[in-house]
Parts: sequence; structure tokens; C-alpha cells
Amino acid sequence: MHTNKVAIVTGGNRGIGLEICRQLAQQHITIILTARSLVKAEQAAANLQSKEAQIYARQLDVTDALGVERLVADIMDEFGRIDILVNNAGIFLDRNPGMSVSAAQLRQTYETNVIAPIKLMQTVIPHMRQRGYGRIVNVSSRMGSLTHMGGGSLAYRSSKSALNAATRVFSAETAGSGILVNTCHPGWVQTDMGGPNASLTIAEGADTPVWLATLPDDGPTGAFFADREPLDW
Ligand SMILES: NC(=O)c1ccc[n+]([C@@H]2O[C@H](COP(=O)([O-])OP(=O)(O)OC[C@H]3O[C@@H](n4cnc5c(N)ncnc54)[C@H](OP(=O)(O)O)[C@@H]3O)[C@@H](O)[C@H]2O)c1
Repeated sequence: MHTNKVAIVTGGNRGIGLEICRQLAQQHITIILTARSLVKAEQAAANLQSKEAQIYARQLDVTDALGVERLVADIMDEFGRIDILVNNAGIFLDRNPGMSVSAAQLRQTYETNVIAPIKLMQTVIPHMRQRGYGRIVNVSSRMGSLTHMGGGSLAYRSSKSALNAATRVFSAETAGSGILVNTCHPGWVQTDMGGPNASLTIAEGADTPVWLATLPDDGPTGAFFADREPLDW
């Protein structure tokens, strides 16, 4: 009972991304599990593989713009469609006061957390538009909410604010096209990034992104969610 839908997930080799791949595959969606290491992508895909699941491992460092273009072109050649994009890959480098953030931390963080997901959206949206269907999920953070903004981690926080802004821009530009573009906070999740004391399991953390990746046609667009509920910008 395969749906034929094809989903690209970035940073699919571990953490929330890996779990998003697992949960979407359970819904009979074909998964393009990407990771910056092909070996890690292949290992992760092999671990998720089951009779039902269709999971394909592909190499993608999200900061490699040409690599993004090649990947999307290859998927279109091979599968003929891209229905879902989950921009999950992210880095959190600066657990220090904003006053001490370096230009290098800011640049590296923005390359991965902002410029890369924007490039991915720019590359997949034309293909989604042609089919009149798309679900784009940006895995952001409550730390990027201006309403809830606190001190510290300026690079990470502001990168997620920018990702939220990009979500709004692309949702406005795709309005009425069948493409829904949303952003979310997965919660504080027990991954390498979240640490062992985090409050949510990885399965719980993947819930809202997976829900957004599989929204019905009358679902929201241009919104920010946590626990499947709207979150203040
Ligand atoms: N965990 C939390 O509590 C929490 C809270 C709020 C938001 N988030 C967000 O949730 C997302 C997933 O976080 P996580 O907790 O699963 O983090 P994680 O365990 O640190 O995993 C991060 C993933 O991103 C990948 N990645 C980083 N840079 C990449 C690049 N240039 N190209 C391709 N992949 C890259 C990593 O690949 P490698 O294995 O190659 O490094 C890894 O697969 C992130 O966007 C994060 O900001 C997490």
C-alpha cells in the first residue's frame, strides 16, 4: 500500500531527522534519507529498512548548493516527483553569551540553518508547483521565537528566527498552489544536540514535523507550531 509520495529529509542519519524518516516510512512514503556522509546515510537507511519501507540513501551536505541542485535533479529523474521536504539538518555551535559570538560562528550557523534550507526550498518548489502539491517542514526552534527570545546563543537563535522568516516568505509566495510551508519547534529532545536531560524522546520530537509533512490539503501554511499547536513568533 505505497502512497507513491516522495519525501526528502536532510540530516537523516541521526537524531530527529532519522526518526522523521522512520515515522514517514511507516506511512508508506518513499524516503530519500540524506546525510552529509553517504556511509552514514546508507547505514541509517539499512537500519530502517523493512518489507514495507522504501528508503533510499543519498549524500547531501546541505551547505553544498550544487549538491542540492544535483540531488533534486537526480530525484526528479529517478522518481519524477518530490512531495515533501523536511529541512531538519541543523547545528547549534554557540552555547555562549551573545556578546562573545564570533563572526565565524555566525557564518557557519547561518550557512547550515538558514542559507541551506532556503536553497532547498528554492530548488524543490518549482517541481512541487508543477504537480500542485507540496509539504515543506522547517525544523526550527522556540529559541528563534522573538516573543520568547532570551540571552545567549545569538547565532543559533537568530538563525532560527531567519528560518521562520523564510517560512513566511515562501508560504506567501506559494499561497494557493497546493504547497504548504510551515515551521516548528520539535520540543527539547534527547538527541546529541538536546542532550540526555531533555524532556522528550526522539519519537515525541519527530511528531510535529511528521504531522506537518503529512497535512491534508486544507491544512495551515506559514505557521509556527510546537506540539501540533501554534507557537508565538
Ligand atoms: N534536540 C533538540 O532539543 C532540538 C530543539 C529545538 C530544535 N531542534 C532542531 O531539530 C533539528 C534536528 O536536531 P537534532 O536534535 O536531531 O540534532 P543532532 O542530533 O545534532 O543532529 C543534527 C543532524 O543535522 C545534520 N547536519 C548538520 N550539519 C549538516 C550539513 N551541513 N549537511 C547535512 N547534514 C547536516 C547532522 O549530520 P552529521 O551526523 O553529519 O553531523 C545530523 O544528522 C535541528 O535543526 C535542531 O536545530 C532540536
